[in-house]
Amino acid sequence: MAKLTVEDLQLDGKKVLMRVDFNVPISDDGTKVEDDNRIVAALPTIKYVIEHNGKAILFSHLGRIKKEEDKPAKSLKAVAERLSELLNKPVKFVPVTEGKELEDAINELKDGEVLLVQNTRYEDVKDGKYVKRESGNDPELGKYWASLGDVYVNDAFGTAHRKHASNVGIATNMPGKAAAGFLMEKEIKFLGDAVDNPQRPFVAILGGAKVSDKIGVIDNLLEKADKIIIGGGMAYTFYAAKGIKTGDSLVEKDKVDVAKKILDKAGDKLVLPIDNVVADKFDNDANTKVVEGDIDDGWMALDIGPKSIKEFENVLKDAKTVVWNGPMGVFEKPNFAKGTLEIGKFLGTLTNATTIVGGGDSTAAVKQLGVADKLTHISTGGGASLTYLEGKTLPGIAAISEK
Ligand code: 3PG
Repeated sequence: MAKLTVEDLQLDGKKVLMRVDFNVPISDDGTKVEDDNRIVAALPTIKYVIEHNGKAILFSHLGRIKKEEDKPAKSLKAVAERLSELLNKPVKFVPVTEGKELEDAINELKDGEVLLVQNTRYEDVKDGKYVKRESGNDPELGKYWASLGDVYVNDAFGTAHRKHASNVGIATNMPGKAAAGFLMEKEIKFLGDAVDNPQRPFVAILGGAKVSDKIGVIDNLLEKADKIIIGGGMAYTFYAAKGIKTGDSLVEKDKVDVAKKILDKAGDKLVLPIDNVVADKFDNDANTKVVEGDIDDGWMALDIGPKSIKEFENVLKDAKTVVWNGPMGVFEKPNFAKGTLEIGKFLGTLTNATTIVGGGDSTAAVKQLGVADKLTHISTGGGASLTYLEGKTLPGIAAISEK
């Protein structure tokens, strides 16, 4: 990539502002990180900065803050503690996002030390008002944060689809000194190569509840992929578009026409489920049966069936590149997890293929199902990887300096 990277920067003795994506699940009382995947993923860049005698000053958001009362449960304190455990060294946590306390803490930082600034979205609410200084990319805020350091490293791929002060704002105020971190580079390499320069056959697997979330991705991938497998709730809007009965399954009625157009354009590129596990209610303990084709009223499809699994595996078996985004069924309910599990397991057997999971629900699925370590790359970005797969520019990446 032609972007500046952390390895191009002089770090020795420098105040290195780093944007990471530590938007991780936290316990309701705000004291415990429940999934540290994104923190672990940022460690190589943080370690590189401190091993090269930089002072690492980390910025991240956590959740969304729209009112003053949202703040306590969205503090990054627990994240600082977890990061400290993972780095095996102290992490100085500063509970504010601007002002003397932050500036003093940064000025006191020694080479090789790490500091985590409070949740950048605290800036979205000031004096009880929802002012969106961070998420509206307030020009003064980006300028202020940029003034706190010497160089900037953006390792927050998960946030790259946002145009916020802590990613785009700081970077644009540090021209020629805003670099990508290792995680950012890795994400761009895997997703970028898959979409723009794939080893073929290139098969995309798209699932999840709604077609509406994936129309841009399907449109873009129809031009690039050799096959697109459709599973999950979104498959039944395509069923409706083909005139197949959908019973009580999830169908986005206002998207049936779009689905028809996609089907016309796609020809045999689109692969839909042949059979489905249908249930008489949306409940793990519902009565179930497997049906092929038409789904009767009173029944809803909650997973793909055994013939679909075989058919999807058949399409996947010779693939050299696979990108997977979205589960094949309601995998959170054990009785409807089989389709997602089997496809995940099968991907793990494709040792000659690059297998990429595009974040969000599919990442949760492969982790829950224990197949994550068999796949080539699990993206840390949900919305960001979808935006990437849509072929759109990600503002957080665009703002990084060119080499
Ligand atoms: C994510 O989890 O997708 C990113 O951290 C972005 O979070 P956001 O959707 O709240 O902007």
